[in-house]
Amino acid sequence: MIALVSAKGSPGVTVSGLAFALTWSGRTLLVEADPAGGDVLSGYLQGSLDAQRGLAQLAVAELRGRLRDEFERQLVDLAAPRRQRLLLPGLRDPAQAATVAPVWPAIADFLRQLAEDGSVIVDCGRLTAPHFGWPLLHAADQVLLVVRGTLSSVSHAVPAVGVLRKEQAERGGPDRLGLLVVDTGPYPAAEVAARLQVDLAAVLPADQRSARVLSSGGQLHLRSPLLRSAAATQQIMASNREVVDGTRAG
Ligand SMILES: Nc1ncnc2c1ncn2[C@@H]1O[C@H](COP(=O)(O)OP(=O)(O)OP(=O)(O)O)[C@@H](O)[C@H]1O
Ligand SMILES: [Mg+2]
Repeated sequence: MIALVSAKGSPGVTVSGLAFALTWSGRTLLVEADPAGGDVLSGYLQGSLDAQRGLAQLAVAELRGRLRDEFERQLVDLAAPRRQRLLLPGLRDPAQAATVAPVWPAIADFLRQLAEDGSVIVDCGRLTAPHFGWPLLHAADQVLLVVRGTLSSVSHAVPAVGVLRKEQAERGGPDRLGLLVVDTGPYPAAEVAARLQVDLAAVLPADQRSARVLSSGGQLHLRSPLLRSAAATQQIMASNREVVDGTRAG
């Protein structure tokens, strides 16, 4: 279970999460948990599906004690009909975030269980959003702060790293924080990681063409730089985690 989060601006959380969900092997589930609202139904899917399912409906189901029963029918199949790449669409209205906030812990627990059988990628949106889903971050195996290699992105990331580290320290457990750099320059990813003193978990290349399709719809090319890198990221992150776990065990 991977949680993606940003500090400020729009560094590419949604596009990166969608790129992972569309390319990783095994069963993938992208959860649009940005309290500011979901983007994939009206963006990548171009409004082609009814918007009557998703996080808000799931929250209502949980309030009725029916989260488990209602979960599957809230999902969208991103690569129909196999149901191997799934989307839990996000909120249509940020005002709904107040309804979802009390059930974040139940949703986080449930997603944690689903992560036993596949990848769960959670778009948490901006750390500063009202009703931010902290329980989702707490449940994740890895928390990726998404940044660009720009002065403004990096300077907003500094306090975000502080908040994330403090939160992690208070809860104890291993360091789960990593950086995902969307490499549109000018500063190279390694320099961004050195400045923020956070491990570089992954780098995705600047690829306007694919990013535009993931944001607004159109024909995707699996051999494009962004999708190829996104696919490779799964293995890179898994190997890095093994090294970290091995070091800890040793
Ligand atoms: N790898 C990339 N290369 C080029 N452009 C990108 C890349 N990733 C994202 N973008 C572009 O950056 C913009 C913001 O992307 P996205 O919507 O994913 O950001 P976000 O962090 O989810 O923002 P928000 O917090 O507003 O939801 C979009 O125009 C998107 O097409
Ligand atoms: Mg987004």
